[in-house]
This record gives sequence, C-alpha cells and structure tokens, in this order.
Amino acid sequence: MTDAASSDIAGAAAALAKGDLVAFPTETVYGLGADAENPAAVAKIYAAKGRPQDHPVIVHVAPGADIDYWTTEVPDAARALVRAFWPGPLTLILKRNAHIPDAVSGGQDTVGIRCPSHPVAMQLLQAFKDGKGGVAAPSANKFGNVSPTTSQHVHDEFGDDPRLAAILDGGSSQVGIESTILDMSRLATHGPVLLRPGHITAQQIADVIGTMPRQPDQAAPRASGTLESHYAPKAPVALLPTGDIEKTLAELKLRGRCAALIHYSPFVLSQPNVALPAEPKGYAYGVYAALRAMDQQQVELILVEAPPSDDAWLGVNDRLRRAAFGSTGIIERFLKS
Ligand code: TXA
Ligand code: MG
Repeated sequence: MTDAASSDIAGAAAALAKGDLVAFPTETVYGLGADAENPAAVAKIYAAKGRPQDHPVIVHVAPGADIDYWTTEVPDAARALVRAFWPGPLTLILKRNAHIPDAVSGGQDTVGIRCPSHPVAMQLLQAFKDGKGGVAAPSANKFGNVSPTTSQHVHDEFGDDPRLAAILDGGSSQVGIESTILDMSRLATHGPVLLRPGHITAQQIADVIGTMPRQPDQAAPRASGTLESHYAPKAPVALLPTGDIEKTLAELKLRGRCAALIHYSPFVLSQPNVALPAEPKGYAYGVYAALRAMDQQQVELILVEAPPSDDAWLGVNDRLRRAAFGSTGIIERFLKS
C-alpha cells in the first residue's frame, strides 16, 4: 500500500476541523482522531470505540507545537524529554490547562500529550488548524481489542462505519506497540512514574532527566492500556516457556484442539504459526499483526512463546501479559475436555 496522498491529508484535516473522526497512522499504532478542543467530536471517539467515558485520551500535536497552550506547571525535566524524544513515541502526562475540555482528560486534572513521528501523522497535524490544533486519539480499535498497526487492521475493526470520515494509510507502524506513557504531573511528590512501558525505555528517560521513573502506585492516574485485560485477540492467549511448547502442541493436537503458536525460536510446525524476530524491537513491530493473523485463521487457542524477561522486553511482555489475562488454566482445560 502507498502512503496517503497530500490531497487525502488535506481532506482529513478538513474533516477533523468539521468535527468528524479520522483514523491515521502513527509510528506506534494507528489512532482514531478527533479535534481535541471539540467535546462533541471527542464524544464520537468513545461511541465508535465502545469505550468507557472516564478513560482519558492522548492529545497529539504537531512538531514545534506550544506545549504551554495545552498544559500548565510544565517541569524543566518534561521540557528536556520533549527536546530529546519528540517527535516520537513518548506520551507525557502533565497538568492540563483550564480550557482543555473534560472529555479529553476523562475529568482528571491532567492531559496526556505527544508529538508522533510518522510522516503522515506529522503532515496531518501540520495541516489541521495550521499546526496549532490538537488531535485527541486513542488506538483505532474497538475497546479492549488488539491495536491496529496497518490501515487494513483499522478497516477490519470498523468496516465501513460511517462515523469514520477517512482512514489514512501510512503502511505498517514502525514501532508496533503503543507509546511509553510517563506521568510528570506529580513530580514534586511522586517523581516521574512510568504508566505504560514502550519503545522508549525507563533507562533512556533516566539518561535525560537523571532520575529513574518509578512504577505506578494506587494514586497514579488511570490508564485504560493498563487495565489487566487489554490488547486481546478473540482466541484466548497463553504464554509458555520455550521448553514446554513442543510437548503442549503435541498434546493439544492429540485432543483435536486447533492451537496456533507465536514464537521467536526456530520451531518447524504443521500448526498455524508466526515466527517473530528474537529481538525486542523487531518483535514489537510484528506482534499485533501476528495476533490478528492467528485470529483470522480461527484457531481455538493462541500459544505464545514467552519472551525473555529483561528490561528491553518490558513493553512487549506488558502487552502479552494483558492479552493473556483471564486465560489462566486454559491449556489444562483444553487438554481435559
Ligand atoms: O501510541 C499511542 O499512545 C497510541 C497512538 C495512537 O498515539 N495511542 C494510544 O491511545 O495508545 P490509547 O487511548 O489506546 O491509550 C492511551 C492511554 C490510555 O491507557 C489512557 O488511559 C492513558 O493513555 N491516558 C491518556 N491521558 C491520560 C491522563 N491524563 N492520565 C493518565 N492516563 C492517560
Ligand atoms: Mg488502546
């Protein structure tokens, strides 16, 4: 597929300005966007996704945007992170400015903001309100589903839902998992808090601000991508250590069970399977498409070879754990019945 033409981008920017929804590529995953300053437009996102109203959405801004228009009490450390990582896959949670609608922040006193680096996203943000607007955008999937990393995935999620004025194409999202989310809104009392791990690691953040981000506590702002169950395909997902895979697949086969495998070790299998790179960036790039591909083969169960547990794999392991949430004991149940 070819990237969106500039006429498509101009049309999409006009649709946003009218209060319509536009799906667009970012370097992490595709987003479902609306004018962040138009509460009626933001409400359409919630309706189309089937998402609870109290879940805040991230505001996407153009390169060079005025962060002080959207936020207040911006610490120097947050500005340093903007300089280091924008445009790029880092979302900062900051105190929101008074004029930012409640619909965007889920009623919280903060706002999530990021400047994406995908060329089509940057062109769209520059065309919309002359680069001074903000596009509120969650991932372009139905609530709880796997995030889309191609425009085809967005079509698969929404079909020809008339609520989407346009779906811009920008090929496969280069990163493949959602942005790192860092809470900088309670810096004085809580320090920087990593709400969602991603491509930009805690260590990279620490290298810029001199403090290692902490894990979230009870008082941390809510993030729906941090719900226990999220990013889940239709078939149940179970994580398995490398050494258990061949035996488990053989047993499931004996019982007539149709299981698939997502792996990074070199297995040769008759079952549906996807081999992903054995390093975290390449794996993240392919993992959502792999989950979707296995669902399309209508398997009963998706086994996933558990990746290594070191820090570089934190973002991938976080998404896989949520995809597998609620499937505890599923293999045993399949083997018994
Ligand atoms: O990479 C990404 O971040 C993608 C692309 C489209 O930019 N967007 C994305 O949006 O993943 P979404 O809505 O699927 O996930 C955003 C997460 C949610 O868990 C939301 O609760 C959290 O960010 N979030 C947004 N604003 C927040 C705020 N003010 N405080 C705490 N969490 C917030
Ligand atoms: Mg999402």
